[in-house]
Amino acid sequence: MRAATKSVLISQQQIQNRVAEMGREISRDYTGKALTVIGVLKGSFMFVADLIRQIDPAIPVEVDFISASSYGNSTLSSGEVRIVKDIGIRIEGKDVLLIEDIVDSGRTLSQVKTILAGRGARSVRIAALLEKPESRKYSGDLHYVGFRIPNHFVVGYGLDYAERYRNLSEIRVLDET
Ligand code: IMP
Ligand code: MG
Repeated sequence: MRAATKSVLISQQQIQNRVAEMGREISRDYTGKALTVIGVLKGSFMFVADLIRQIDPAIPVEVDFISASSYGNSTLSSGEVRIVKDIGIRIEGKDVLLIEDIVDSGRTLSQVKTILAGRGARSVRIAALLEKPESRKYSGDLHYVGFRIPNHFVVGYGLDYAERYRNLSEIRVLDET
């Protein structure tokens, strides 16, 4: 299969505006608390980097990453989630904000959330840059969502197709031919 990107779905400016809004919302919600941000690798790395800079510097922020694999080099879900790299910090008694690039079935997220909650975090909330329609059955647990998008495979701003396109500054729809 050859793959090329086509139309821009969400521009760099739209992303930056929305991420700033999300940072303000999170700052309001966590005023007077400390925040432990856990990004789900690899797709969330760019979103995490931008989002944490939009959080009020008066809020103490810790950052770590976890890697769970469910897709491999395919655009279809295998239904299997594995923890490939764990966090290195203790989260007992902490307020955790789990950060995902995109929630599709929500399977990755719900499994990672269960693992973290099982380690005695005081709270676990979820922020996702993108949400697809299929995740609606799961969306009760999505506390902060950047954009709800149609059911296309998208790349850019950290999201890949077969490890490509993560470096794009905007979100594009993948054109599969
Ligand atoms: P879920 O477990 O079905 O919610 O899958 C979520 C994960 O699948 C995301 O963290 C992405 O890594 C990947 N994924 C789902 N949809 C897309 C997409 O449109 N583009 C790129 N990656 C995607
Ligand atoms: Mg991926």
